Parts: sequence; structure tokens; C-alpha cells
Amino acid sequence: MEVVIVPTADDAARVVAGVVIRLVTARPAVLGLATGSSPLGTYRRIVDEHRAGRVSFAACDAVLLDEYVGLAPDHPETYRAVIRRDFTDHIDLAPERLHGPDVWAADLPAACARYDGLLAGLGGVDLQLLGIGADGHVGFNEPGSSLRSRTRVKTLTKATRTDNARFFASADEVPRHVLTQGLVTISDARHLVLLAIGERKAVPVARAVEGPITASCPASVIQLHPHATVVLDEAAAGELELADYYREAYAGKPSWQAL
Ligand code: F6R
Repeated sequence: MEVVIVPTADDAARVVAGVVIRLVTARPAVLGLATGSSPLGTYRRIVDEHRAGRVSFAACDAVLLDEYVGLAPDHPETYRAVIRRDFTDHIDLAPERLHGPDVWAADLPAACARYDGLLAGLGGVDLQLLGIGADGHVGFNEPGSSLRSRTRVKTLTKATRTDNARFFASADEVPRHVLTQGLVTISDARHLVLLAIGERKAVPVARAVEGPITASCPASVIQLHPHATVVLDEAAAGELELADYYREAYAGKPSWQAL
């Protein structure tokens, strides 16, 4: 696991956008996309690079981490709609190459199994972008999630529904259920990039990076991954015990060693 601490949210977005662009420029890739506020700056930078003609996604696929259950397919807050609005409608990714779990299927467990099969059929995810919830969730794997989980139905905690109420008219409108990639599904990606911004994320980041690996902090599974990069602004790094070491390691990173 590599922890990269940079001064500002903008610097963090630049680092993460650089990792995505380097991958996509090297080969057709399968990108795992997260919704939420954390990756917005990254998506804006990538869109700018695309508009400047420096990166193309025409040969790529993209997959969603999670999706609400119970919203109408044309609801503006489905994660498919959000990711299209915030990112993929502004690049040359073919709409049919943006994949998500089928939350409108009659048989949701079967839809979850199909989604895991689809990810495998694409050859696996090359790079999975992740945010982290205030309660330590990744995707919508809330505390208590099995460390061996695959894509399945989860119930959101009250805290997560309250957090996400900002996108809805009221907290009551936030769905209670979601389909989310499980912790094993997420960990199957070849590279995990977790991005966290702001003081509110300092405690969950410290638990995920330096605490025990536990279902109580699902993001702590990143410690088991052979290629995990955690990109933080200074505020999100505020509770890390080894912050000076991470800064020193990144400052002295050899030029031949990519993130
Ligand atoms: C989004 C997702 C969530 C968010 C997390 C942080 O697809 O799966 O895990 O990444 O809730 O959200 P923000 O970035 O809004 O703080």
C-alpha cells in the first residue's frame, strides 16, 4: 500500500487523473468508477485532458461500484445517471460500455451474480477508484460487511443515508437498499486507488490505513491488496501516525517507479 499525501484537493485530483490517464494511454482498460464528491475534481481534470485531445477512452470499458435499488430508471440520482453527468458523457466512452448492476431485475441475487460474471468476462477491472465513507465504507459495503463478500444487496446505514440526503429533496427519499460490489469483488481489481479529501475523512482514513483489518471498517481491506494507492489531501491525512514517513517516501520516489 502506498499513501500519497499532497497539499490540496486539487493536487490529489491531479495525481489520480495522472494515474488513470497513464493507464488508458498504455492500453484499453477496464475502469472502475466511484460516484460521490471525492472523485469529481479527478473527473474534471480527465475531461479537460480528453477535450485537449490528450486521452481517449474509445477502447475502454467502465464499471460502476454500486447502484441504488428502488429509484426509477430515469431518476437523476441513479449512479449511472450521476456518473454519466459528472464524467462519461464528456469523454468518448461508448454509452453501452458503461456497465452497472441491474437493480431493476426481478431476481436481485441473480443480477448480482451476473454482474460479477460480467466483470470477469471483461477480463477484470484494471483500476478501481474508491472513495471512503465517514463510517469506513467502500462501495456501499457498510460496517459489518463480510470481508469475503461479492456483489450483493446491502442496506445503507442511517449515517450514509443522511450523508447522501444532500442529493435528494429529503433524507427520506434516499433509498435504503443498494447493490454493491463486495469487498472481494473490489479487491479483484488489479489496482485500487482510494481518494479522500477533507478533515471529515481523517478518522476513517486512519482506521482504513493504519487500523486493524476488520469488517467494522470495510475500507481496511485495502491493506491486503498487492497494489493499493491511497491519495489524500493534508486534511484527510490529519490522523495518520506515519504521515511523515509517507511524505518522505513519496518525495523520494524514484522516477522509474510509477504509482
Ligand atoms: C460511491 C461510493 C461510496 C463513496 C463514499 C464517499 O460510488 O461507493 O463509497 O465513495 O460514500 O462519498 P464522498 O466522496 O461523497 O464523500
